[in-house]
Amino acid sequence: MDKKCGSADGTNAGQDWVYTDTVKDHFLNPRNFLMGDEAQFQCDATGIVGNPICGDQMKMFIRVDPQTDRISDIRWKTYGCASAIASTSALSEIAKGRTLDEALAITAEEIDEYLGKLPRHKFHCSVLGHDALKEAVKNYRAGTSRSASEPASASTSASAS
Ligand code: FES
Repeated sequence: MDKKCGSADGTNAGQDWVYTDTVKDHFLNPRNFLMGDEAQFQCDATGIVGNPICGDQMKMFIRVDPQTDRISDIRWKTYGCASAIASTSALSEIAKGRTLDEALAITAEEIDEYLGKLPRHKFHCSVLGHDALKEAVKNYRAGTSRSASEPASASTSASAS
């Protein structure tokens, strides 16, 4: 008799391990990814966060139109997993053109829907980019922003992994 692996009754076995085509596309072709020298992108603020669960790190760069308070452009880089890369790529597309308040209101569920759902055990990865974005907005509003071309005070030098 054949044994079935996965769920106890064999239904939907392994389904939650599948990445959607949208997730795979954003992982393999990340949008707004900052490749190479950070000085290439002149920004108004940056935010850096780490995920204490896995140790992954994310850095977000935003350019803000002071007239409209909208994110006019955005870049990011990461030491992160495939799900974090895909999620942040999606986030960057969602956030571009939004006001800072609208960008802060983006939810992990919205990112998840945009990607056609992440595997449940990777859902936590979808918050890393947004946490970095929140940090960048906080720094922008606090006036502690710096140009990407200035020396970073953080000890991280993130790049896609
Ligand atoms: S495993 Fe760290 S963000 Fe995905």
